[in-house]
Amino acid sequence: MSTLFRLKSLDRIFHEAERPQQQLKRALGPVQLTLLGVGAIIGAGIFSTVGTAAAGGADHLGGGPAIVLSFALTAVACAFAALCYAEFAAMVPISGSAYTYAYATLGELVAWIIGWDLIIEYAIGNVAVAISWSGYFQELLRGLGIEFPVWLGVDYRTAAQALQQVGESQAAGLNIADLGLAVERAARAMTVAPQLAGMPIIFNLPAFLIVMLVTWVLVIGISESAWLNSAMVVLKLVIIAFFLIVGVFYIKPENWTPFAPNGFKGVSTAAALIFFAYIGFDAVSTAAEETRDPQRNMPIGMIASLVVCTVIYILVAIVLTGLVRYDQLGTAEPLATAFSALGMHWAAGVISLGAVFATTSVLVVFQLGQPRIFFSMARDGLLPPWAAKVHPRYRTPHVTTILTGIGVAAFAAIANINEVVELTNIGTLFAFVLVAVGIIVLRRVDPSRARPFRTPMVPLVPLLTVVMCGYLMLELPWVTWVRFGVWLAIGLVFYFLYGVRHSTLRER
Ligand code: ALA
Repeated sequence: MSTLFRLKSLDRIFHEAERPQQQLKRALGPVQLTLLGVGAIIGAGIFSTVGTAAAGGADHLGGGPAIVLSFALTAVACAFAALCYAEFAAMVPISGSAYTYAYATLGELVAWIIGWDLIIEYAIGNVAVAISWSGYFQELLRGLGIEFPVWLGVDYRTAAQALQQVGESQAAGLNIADLGLAVERAARAMTVAPQLAGMPIIFNLPAFLIVMLVTWVLVIGISESAWLNSAMVVLKLVIIAFFLIVGVFYIKPENWTPFAPNGFKGVSTAAALIFFAYIGFDAVSTAAEETRDPQRNMPIGMIASLVVCTVIYILVAIVLTGLVRYDQLGTAEPLATAFSALGMHWAAGVISLGAVFATTSVLVVFQLGQPRIFFSMARDGLLPPWAAKVHPRYRTPHVTTILTGIGVAAFAAIANINEVVELTNIGTLFAFVLVAVGIIVLRRVDPSRARPFRTPMVPLVPLLTVVMCGYLMLELPWVTWVRFGVWLAIGLVFYFLYGVRHSTLRER
């Protein structure tokens, strides 16, 4: 039993990170970190999920114009979590984020669970972002007059569901055009796809390719990745500014009534969905070993990026719901839809370009974070040693970067975006809960350790983090809980078959 709760002391964590053959390059400062955070945060959430959050969907109520409140609610939950993350990130500036913190405070089993859980946040989250990227990329091509083959631009499940929707619509004598272009296109994929042994071949090729491209950049080096990220972040901020400035002139205040069509329930359900838009500030912490003066720069990077994004989201929500009625926003590209509905197709095209930049930068940060978590787990012996190799020339964890890239790209080619978003949210919220608990535990068991950044009002702030994140988790559909449970169960099997016996703590 004591094996499962063995702790890795912070002194040992620091010592191991200093081994020269496993050293990453310290290149990032506060501005680059904040840009890394903003790069991770603004992406598929504000460009895609916000639409379904406002309009509602098959298994959830919409928030309507009151999604402004949903954004505020989620921001508060994230701010509490960020204050907890900042204490850890400043105190344990080691790549591996919440996984490493848990190892020092809650023991090996919880650390493993959290590391396994973070795969959902980073890798599965990126599956959703890659699918969103692909959608906007194809939209952009279409704007340029290039029609991408439909069977290479969508996953099989989405195409099959679309075909069924079209069939039902026809049977009911309804107009298929009302289903929207996206559904019509996906359904067509089923009929035009080439067949292999009677099965239509349908997969999302752009989603696959973008992940592989990002992976290549990440193997080459952290400085190059940060540079690419900074360029993308600037571009996406410019395009969001464009949305706000142009949009403000076309707001019709009557679109804001009814403000909360589904009352508080709608607001909180939407909050659980748009939580996806905030995921990412914590990803800053995975670059701790590549940061200069991490004790100072980690908290700055995390909190500054969260504040910037919250302001942007609230403004976007106000303008978006003022442009068109909320119930018209339930598309995969709501910001473009709003302009198209006003007949401003050129503006919709600019937004699509912005979404492509935005989601690319999110992909970069998460593809950067996931291998570093694997890297830390392998360094601790919970994953095989080859996963902790650092490239001799580029000084990046190239093995895990490439494996993550292949895994994420393959899933992105076949997965359905909505299911993936909900799973990502539950996994991330769970990680936040464990980090908050870790703060309370570590203040008790190791009160005298130097804390360059202290979470204010402990235990109140960590407890509020637990309550708020737990509440958002409860707002997610039960099927998401089942998937999450299955994922954790698979992780436990791995741990008991491999990690528990190979842990470096066992050697002692
Ligand atoms: N927050 C990130 C996004 O919205 C995951 O794409």
